[in-house]
This record gives sequence, C-alpha cells and structure tokens, in this order.
Amino acid sequence: MDGAPPPTSPTGLSAYVAVSQLLGLTLLATTGAWLGRYRGGVAWHSPLQFNAHPLCMVLGMVFLQGDALLVYRVFRHEAKRSTKALHALLHGLALVIALVGIIAVFESHRTKGIPNMYSLHSWCGMAAFVLYLLQWLLGCGFFLFPGASFSVRGQYKPQHIFFGITLFILSITSCLLGITEMLLLKIRAWILQQLSLGMSIKCPVPPPCVQVFAEPPRRLMSLRPLPSQLEDREMAPAAH
Ligand code: HEM
Ligand code: HEM
Repeated sequence: MDGAPPPTSPTGLSAYVAVSQLLGLTLLATTGAWLGRYRGGVAWHSPLQFNAHPLCMVLGMVFLQGDALLVYRVFRHEAKRSTKALHALLHGLALVIALVGIIAVFESHRTKGIPNMYSLHSWCGMAAFVLYLLQWLLGCGFFLFPGASFSVRGQYKPQHIFFGITLFILSITSCLLGITEMLLLKIRAWILQQLSLGMSIKCPVPPPCVQVFAEPPRRLMSLRPLPSQLEDREMAPAAH
C-alpha cells in the first residue's frame, strides 16, 4: 500500500528447499529399496508385517513432518489461513502414517511372541510419537479452531515452534536408534547362526581350535534368550 517492495526470498532458499526434497526422496527410495531388496518386502498380516514399521516411520515422522515444517517458509506469500491448513494437514497425515507403523511393530511382536518396549529405541520412539500427537492437538486447539485469543496464541507460538523443532530432532534420533538396533540384531543373528553351524559356512570342517573357542559363547547364548534375541525372529524373512 505504501509502495514498499514485497519482501524478497532469503538468499538461496529455493536451493535449500530443492536439496531438502532431494535428500528426503533419496531417504524414502533407499529405505524402500533396502526393505524390498534385502528384507523381503512389506506385507500386512504376514511375517513381513514388521517391515511396514521402518517405512511408515521414515515416511511419516521424517519426510512428511519435515515438509510440514517447511510450509511457512515456502508459501510465506500465501494467505496465512491456507498455509496453516496445509501445515496442520501434513502433520495430520504424518501422524496417521506413523500410527500405522506403530501398529505394525506391535502386531508383529504380538504374533511372534516378542516382548514390547524393551529397548531405548522403543521408549524414545514412543515418547516422540505421543508428544507429536500432543503437539498436533495443541496446535489445532490454539491456532486452527476459533476460541483462543490473539494474545494467548502469541504466548503459545514460541513454545509451539521450540517443541516442534525439538520433536523433529527427537524423531530423527529415534529413526537412527531404530536403524542401529536393526543392524545390531542382524549382526547378532548372523553370529548366532555361524556359531550354531559350527562356522561351517566359512570352514566346511571347523578345525578343533575353532570349535573350542566357539563352544563357550554358543552355550552362553543358548542359556536364556534375551528379549533382543527373541527379536532375531524379526530377521527371519531376511533369508537371502
Ligand atoms: C520416529 C520413528 C520411529 C518411532 C516413533 C518408532 C517407534 C517404535 C516403537 C514404539 C517400538 C516398540 C514396539 C514394541 O515394543 O512392540 C519400536 C520397535 C522397533 N523399531 Fe521403531 N520407531 C521408529 C523408527 C524406526 C526405524 C527407522 C527403524 C529401523 C529401520 C526401527 C526399528 C525398530 C525395531 C527393530 C524395533 C523392534 C525392537 C524394539 O522394540 O526396540 N524403528 N519402534
Ligand atoms: C505435531 C504437529 C506440529 C508440529 C511438530 C509443528 C511444528 C511447528 C514449527 C517447527 C513451526 C515453526 C515453523 C517456521 O518457523 O517456519 C510451527 C509454526 C506454526 N504452527 Fe505448527 N506444528 C504442528 C502442528 C500444528 C497445527 C495442528 C497447527 C494448527 C494450525 C499449527 C500451527 C502453527 C502456526 C500458526 C505456526 C506459526 C507460523 C508463523 O506465524 O510463523 N501447527 N509449527
């Protein structure tokens, strides 16, 4: 109105957004390829049900959540109403997909008789999911539905932004913990398999010294299965 030029884009914003999308799509493609090529694929009501967990969590809690956070930067010239709706919608979609991923892992544990919530990853992940749901409900309550006054919204906004960024970091941390845990379980399953085979894959006739060294750990590991050893059943479909 006063003839001032419209605000310009921060330098390099488009390039940063393009790189973020490229990285996000690469993350999804590599997760899909890993599950499809090396873990037997994804299917519901089957031993492959667990595989829906990493896929949904990466899609919902990382890719869609990340895009929802970018909405206010990318569409900052659009009407606030529309950007708010898109922000809430993308977070809502992320929540639903993450819920499917959580159901997949609990169902898979139930059908295989594996205990629940025994690892750091499961507690971190559950905390991230529950707090994310809470943040979404609070976001809708304060910003989407009429009722909260402008001053209340203004007071809540900095908290919303702080907890939003913290939750994104917590979600990525949970994913990294999950990937590391899966890798460790896979290595452990491989070692157990080698020990139970008397290392016959690498040495068709294991020399006596190998048998002598392999026997104590094999006995120890067969004494009482740890919950995480039960998780080795998670690795069963990965036979390749
Ligand atoms: C933010 C993302 C994630 C959340 C919120 C999350 C949440 C959870 C939860 C709550 C459990 C416990 C299920 C139960 O006890 O029955 C679990 C289990 C598991 N998740 Fe995730 N997860 C995430 C990402 C991932 C990713 C990316 C992977 C692997 C690539 C993964 C691998 C696992 C494994 C192997 C288990 C079974 C072992 C265990 O209970 O610790 N998770 N996850
Ligand atoms: C779990 C869900 C949510 C998370 C993690 C989250 C996170 C965030 C973050 C990190 C920002 C800062 C964005 C930026 O500065 O570019 C933000 C801003 C905002 N969010 Fe959310 N949000 C969530 C849900 C919602 C919902 C459901 C609404 C309701 C419409 C909402 C409304 C807003 C508003 C109004 C802003 C301020 C935009 C501004 O004026 O700068 N959020 N949110």
